[in-house]
Amino acid sequence: MRIIITGSNGFLGQHLTDFLSKQGCEVIALSRGENQNRITKQLKYKSIDLTNAAAINAVIKELKPNVIIHNAAMSKPDVCHDNQDECHLQNVEATSYLLKAAAPFNPYFLYVSTDFIFGENGPHPETETPAPLNYYGQTKLMAEQLVRQSGLPHSIMRPVFIYGPAYENMRPTFLHWVRNSLLHNKKIKVVNDQRRTPTYVYDICKGVLAMIQKNVIGDFHLAGKDILSPYQMALAVAETLNLNANLIEPVTSETFPEPVIRAKNSGLKIDKAREILGYKPISFEEGIALTFSS
Ligand SMILES: NC(=O)c1ccc[n+]([C@@H]2O[C@H](COP(=O)([O-])OP(=O)(O)OC[C@H]3O[C@@H](n4cnc5c(N)ncnc54)[C@H](OP(=O)(O)O)[C@@H]3O)[C@@H](O)[C@H]2O)c1
Repeated sequence: MRIIITGSNGFLGQHLTDFLSKQGCEVIALSRGENQNRITKQLKYKSIDLTNAAAINAVIKELKPNVIIHNAAMSKPDVCHDNQDECHLQNVEATSYLLKAAAPFNPYFLYVSTDFIFGENGPHPETETPAPLNYYGQTKLMAEQLVRQSGLPHSIMRPVFIYGPAYENMRPTFLHWVRNSLLHNKKIKVVNDQRRTPTYVYDICKGVLAMIQKNVIGDFHLAGKDILSPYQMALAVAETLNLNANLIEPVTSETFPEPVIRAKNSGLKIDKAREILGYKPISFEEGIALTFSS
């Protein structure tokens, strides 16, 4: 099985690349610029900008993948809000170039989406009607629609608030920020009026492998099993790592005014993934321990 992973230099991309390579899959990692992955041995890497349709055509024609995991995206809602044309190019047009290039080879196409395609009243099941609250969510939904219309065998995977180990050249996660702040005796303000289902990165990797092996078609939510506010997550980090929880102050979202609207109650339901994929996410406490154990 030859698998292409786009956005392989990013946080999820590096973990997915490493995990699937260790499972014995032939993985070819695609991302912009130099390969940033320092964990995967003997990685096949190609530098490509996915907004270059001709370059994508050439790479897909050369590699003829059986599976494409389209993970690359402009992934920060604030950056998307401030750079909407660029965000449309990266998240929507690049997806359309990739789908068109893939069409003659009919690979299984797995699109990495997000809970941001939904609005309030989470946690959301796969059957809920999308209602994105910001431009990032709108572009991810547009890309989902392109994938559905492509005629390729496809699935859409949605994670939430991803965390896990951050190796060399990976951006630190929210959990790392909390731990590092507390270690340095720094007081932090953390939002307590938003709810998410934070997702341990290796749970996603295992779920993605199951999706590919079972060749599932349709939408799948791969999220954590605990519904938590960022403040509760920060407290759990302090407790699990024996750090000073008194440094963490709960605040409302209004403390950090920003142009991007985020759902108060987001998060995703995972019953479908449990039933069809045998998806069994670990608890948030276990995830914290594993995040900082290596
Ligand atoms: N992180 C989360 O909590 C979360 C939650 C839900 C869904 N997701 C989704 O999960 C996926 C991965 O998220 P992440 O947090 O790992 O993102 P990330 O760290 O920002 O990684 C995205 C990667 O895609 C690459 N990329 C973007 N545009 C590209 C282009 N035109 N050509 C080639 N590569 C390009 C980026 O390249 P550069 O390194 O050059 O920028 C980056 O390496 C995204 O699709 C995101 O929407 C993430």
